Amino acid sequence: MPHQDPLFSIARQNILVAGGAGGLGWPIAQELARRGANVAIADLDESKAMTCAETLTRQGARALAIALNVTSRHSCEAACQHVANTWGCLDGLVNASGIYRVGPALSLANQDWQNSIDINLTGSFQLARAAGALMVPQKSGSIITITSVSSRIANPNYAAYAASKAGAAHVTRVLALEWAAAGVRVNAIGPAVTPTPLAAQIIDDPVTRNNALAKIPMQRFGTPQDLLASVVFLLADGAKFLTGQILYVDGGRTIS
Ligand SMILES: NC(=O)c1ccc[n+]([C@@H]2O[C@H](COP(=O)([O-])OP(=O)(O)OC[C@H]3O[C@@H](n4cnc5c(N)ncnc54)[C@H](O)[C@@H]3O)[C@@H](O)[C@H]2O)c1
Repeated sequence: MPHQDPLFSIARQNILVAGGAGGLGWPIAQELARRGANVAIADLDESKAMTCAETLTRQGARALAIALNVTSRHSCEAACQHVANTWGCLDGLVNASGIYRVGPALSLANQDWQNSIDINLTGSFQLARAAGALMVPQKSGSIITITSVSSRIANPNYAAYAASKAGAAHVTRVLALEWAAAGVRVNAIGPAVTPTPLAAQIIDDPVTRNNALAKIPMQRFGTPQDLLASVVFLLADGAKFLTGQILYVDGGRTIS
């Protein structure tokens, strides 16, 4: 049953979830559909995106699957255009795509550095730009990039990941300024460690797991569900004067 409280309603919004087949993207996509949004699941893994979209459709939502590679400008533009062509316009973008590559700076492979920048930074910029190109002329829209606590804090071994996430957070502020007058809002959400396939290398190793846990004041890892209210709020009308912010949903990690 779609929620109709105007402050928090996203019913009938057309929303593209990039990385929508992933550990965070899929629960987000499910929540948006549950609240009556039309949801496009866009992912590098096209077959997983199709399975997710079919699941939403079976549950009565309007959903579609899109093959997306955020490192390609053309792919980003085609994905956003596909939503607009299918449902009339693009109201929201949630970019939950990304990769996690860490290692000591002295031995970090150049390819890990480059892939982190290409996907997490250049990719999130290209996708936001493709969405903005449709939203600015229509004078409405909300863009959310899932960055990380690493947008703000430094961890050893995180040069590539932290650079990509800090860059994505700052691009969020720049785009928010460029598009504020057009009524297009650009924000980010920074989660702490959350068990998903991406975080398996932290969670599965007892030493890194305990180190990571010890840094979270609330003494637990995040869950995808912890992010849902923030995503919904940033997409909804209740947040219509809120732009250029990085909302850390992190159990206190960034203040510790
Ligand atoms: N899980 C965590 O602990 C955590 C914490 C903070 C931030 N984040 C960020 O949240 C986002 C989602 O992470 P997750 O945990 O869901 O990871 P995940 O690996 O479960 O999902 C990531 C999704 O992104 C897709 N993807 C990868 N490269 C892509 C590309 N080039 N184009 C399009 N899609 C691509 C993958 O196919 C996958 O479905 C990432 O940006 C990650 O950095 C995750």
